[in-house]
Amino acid sequence: MEKIRIFGNPNLLLKGKVRTSGSKNAVLPAIAASLLTDEKIRLKNIPLVKDVFSMLKLMTELGTEYHLKKNDLTIQVKKILSEEASYDLVRVMRASILVLGPLLARFGKAMVALPGGCAIGSRPIDLHIAGLQKLGATISLEHGYIKAEAGRLQGADIRFDKKTVGGTEHLVMAASLARGETVLRNCAQEPEVSNLCELLVKMGAKIDGIGEEVIRVNGVSELGGAVHEIIPDRIEAGTFLVAGALTQGGITLTNTEPAHLTTIIEKLRYSGAVIEIEKNKTLRVVGSSEIKPQDVTTSSYPGFPTDMQAQFMVLMTQASGTSIITETIFDRRFLHVNELLRLGANIEVSGDKAIVRGKTPLSGAEVIATDLRASASLILAGLVAGGETIVNEVEHIDRGYEAIEEKLNALGARIERIRG
Ligand code: EPZ
Repeated sequence: MEKIRIFGNPNLLLKGKVRTSGSKNAVLPAIAASLLTDEKIRLKNIPLVKDVFSMLKLMTELGTEYHLKKNDLTIQVKKILSEEASYDLVRVMRASILVLGPLLARFGKAMVALPGGCAIGSRPIDLHIAGLQKLGATISLEHGYIKAEAGRLQGADIRFDKKTVGGTEHLVMAASLARGETVLRNCAQEPEVSNLCELLVKMGAKIDGIGEEVIRVNGVSELGGAVHEIIPDRIEAGTFLVAGALTQGGITLTNTEPAHLTTIIEKLRYSGAVIEIEKNKTLRVVGSSEIKPQDVTTSSYPGFPTDMQAQFMVLMTQASGTSIITETIFDRRFLHVNELLRLGANIEVSGDKAIVRGKTPLSGAEVIATDLRASASLILAGLVAGGETIVNEVEHIDRGYEAIEEKLNALGARIERIRG
C-alpha cells in the first residue's frame, strides 16, 4: 500500500503555474472506440494515469497494438485475439465495460465481466444492457459475465431512464455501426461525451445533436482512422482551483478548457476566490482569506459535478458558516467525511446531505483514501492542516491524477510519497 505524507500549513501560500493533463474520463471511451475500426486512431493530450494503463492492458488482451510516446497514443485493432474482458481487469476499472458495445458492433460477440459495485455506490449498468438489447443484441448473464451476441445491430429509439455518462457513450459507439437510425433520448451532456462523439465523427460516424439531450446516429457500415485531441481534465482543473481557493498565493492553470468549468468557477467565485479566465486556455485563481459558505447540489452536466463534491467539501470546512452539500448522483459518495472528521472537520451526514460547519482549523492526522476523488480531498485538507497528514491507500489518486505530488510541490506544497 502506498502512502502520501503532507507537511501541512494553515497559512500555506500555493503559487505558480500548473499544466492540466488530458481528461481521464474522455480518453477511456476514446480508447474503447478504437475497436470500431481496423485503422489507426491517434489520441493526443492523453493523461498518463493508472486507468489509462489499465485500459491499454485490457485492449492488449483483446489483441490491440498500441504505441505510446509521452502523451500521444496511437492504437490499432486490425483483428482481435479474444472478445473477452476478464473480471481481473473489469473489477479494477469499471470503464472497461465500454468495450462491450464496440466488440459487439464490429465482431458480433463479446464476453465482459459484470463490474461489481465500488466505493462510491452500486454502479449498475442496467441502462447499458437495456440499450444494447434494443439495438438487437442477445445478452445473458452467466457466472458473473455478460455474454453478448448480435448480427448487425439495428437502429432503435432509446430513452435513458436517467442520465448516464457511460451509458450514453456506450450506445453512441454501438449505434455508429448499426443499420439505420438510432435516437438516444435523455443523454448525458458531459464534455467527455461530446469529445467522444467528435472522435466518432472524425472516424466517419454520422452523429447529430452532439452535446444535446437527444443524439441521433445514422449507422454506417464501417469506420476509419482519425487523429483526435483529448479535452483537458475539468475535474483535475477544478481540484487545483479548489487548492487555489484554499490558499492565497495565486495559481495559474494552463491547458484548461474554461467553458467546461462554468459551474465550478461560479461556485468558487461566490465563495470569495478571485478567478480570471485568461486567453489561450489559462485560468488564474487567488483565494480569499474569508471563505463564504454555500449550499451545493451535485447534478449532471452542466450542473455541479459529483466528481468535485469531495474537493469542494474541504473548502467549505474553511468557510465561515454552514454549508449543505447534497449528493444526488451516487448513493455512497460521502466516504471521505469520516476521514475529514479525523482531521478536525465538523461535518454531519444525513441521507444524501452533508452539513458542513466552518470555519474549523484542521490538524494533521493519519487517514485512509477510499476512492479517487476522496483521495484528492484528503490531500487538499492535508495541505492546510496544521502538522503532518498521512494519506494511506493512496493508489486511488494515481487512477485519475497525473504526477499530483510533483504538480503540488511545484506550487509550494510539501508532499512526499512513501512506498512500502
Ligand atoms: C462517469 O461514470 C465517470 N467515469 C464518473 O467519474 C462520474 O462520477 C460519473 O460519470 C458521473 O458524472 C468515467 O467517465 C470513466 P453514470 P459512469 O453512468 O458513466 C446510475 C471519477 O471520479 N446508472 O453517469 O459510471 C449510476 O449508478 C469517476 O472520475 C444506472 O442506474 O456514471 C449513477 O447513480 C467516478 N444504471 C448515475 O446513473 C446504469 O446503467 C450516473 O452514473 C448506469 C448508470
